[in-house]
Amino acid sequence: MARVLSCIQPTGDVHLGNYLGALRNWVSGQHANDVFHGIVDLHALTVTDTPGELGRNTIELAAMLFAVGLDPLVATVFVQSHVAEHSQLGWIMECTVSFGELSRMTQFKDKSAKREADFVSAGLFTYPALQAADILLYDANEVPVGDDQRQHIEITRDIATRFNHRFGDTFVLPKAVTPPAGARVMDLTDPTSKMSKSSETEAGCVYMLDAPSVIEKKFKRAVTDSDNEVRYDRDAKPGIANLLDILGAVTNTPATTLADQYHQYGSLKSDCGAAVAEMLAPIQQRYNELIGDPAELGRLLRIGAEKATAVAQVTLERAHRAIGFYPR
Ligand code: TRP
Repeated sequence: MARVLSCIQPTGDVHLGNYLGALRNWVSGQHANDVFHGIVDLHALTVTDTPGELGRNTIELAAMLFAVGLDPLVATVFVQSHVAEHSQLGWIMECTVSFGELSRMTQFKDKSAKREADFVSAGLFTYPALQAADILLYDANEVPVGDDQRQHIEITRDIATRFNHRFGDTFVLPKAVTPPAGARVMDLTDPTSKMSKSSETEAGCVYMLDAPSVIEKKFKRAVTDSDNEVRYDRDAKPGIANLLDILGAVTNTPATTLADQYHQYGSLKSDCGAAVAEMLAPIQQRYNELIGDPAELGRLLRIGAEKATAVAQVTLERAHRAIGFYPR
């Protein structure tokens, strides 16, 4: 069984793109592999300075992860800050990566440029070192990521290789794996950009907790094109392709098969909205039960923290011994 690690930042509401692109695969993959799922609040701290916000976002994300079907007795769902070894190995990783390597990270360049006059924390710069710690602590064989994270997995491999070379074989080299397809959900109002909570308009992003009427309205207003022909063509018809991809992902049907079944944009849009609302209804119900029971959520997260800590402690200890710190 491969050890698989995925992490998600608690930075706002989970949307359909997160679910169809990643979370759903986390759920279906939980029995096939030994999976660890971190809610990486320390990473989110790189761009957060409001008291209480991280804790709130963390518990909401945890409730959503359990609501979509992660089983705390099968998958290890934990909060990064509950496992102190992340920060501890993070420092060691910072000393194993160079300033030059970190300077070449495109995500840092993008994020720091976007923040313009805002505070750009040093944590935003050293972020990949902490991410390397996340991965290496669990001896992860596989890390399923989108293209935007490939560079971070590459640098993790470089750091692990360097550490192993300096101090002796300590870390498992992780591999970036591509999550199964059907996963690329685009913004409904701008179908050439990925669906994202940071997009210009709310209308293009369907949130997991949106009411059915809101979901249906968002799909009705989805941007398409004016040639009125239902055909799967991502380049020429990105809006229609996106709707077909979403409906295909929800109903487990190839998008091209669906394309043959529709002749009007209107019915494609309304079927898409109805299918998404129907898929989300039971998830919303479980979410509401859990979020109303903080004691239970706390208990579930402690199960994860204990399992994660047991693994992380052993790896950190191994790294300390390899370095040859004077033992306490
Ligand atoms: N950087 C990742 C993102 O922005 C989140 C992340 C942090 C992560 N640590 C990780 C992803 C470890 C995979 C493995 O999405």
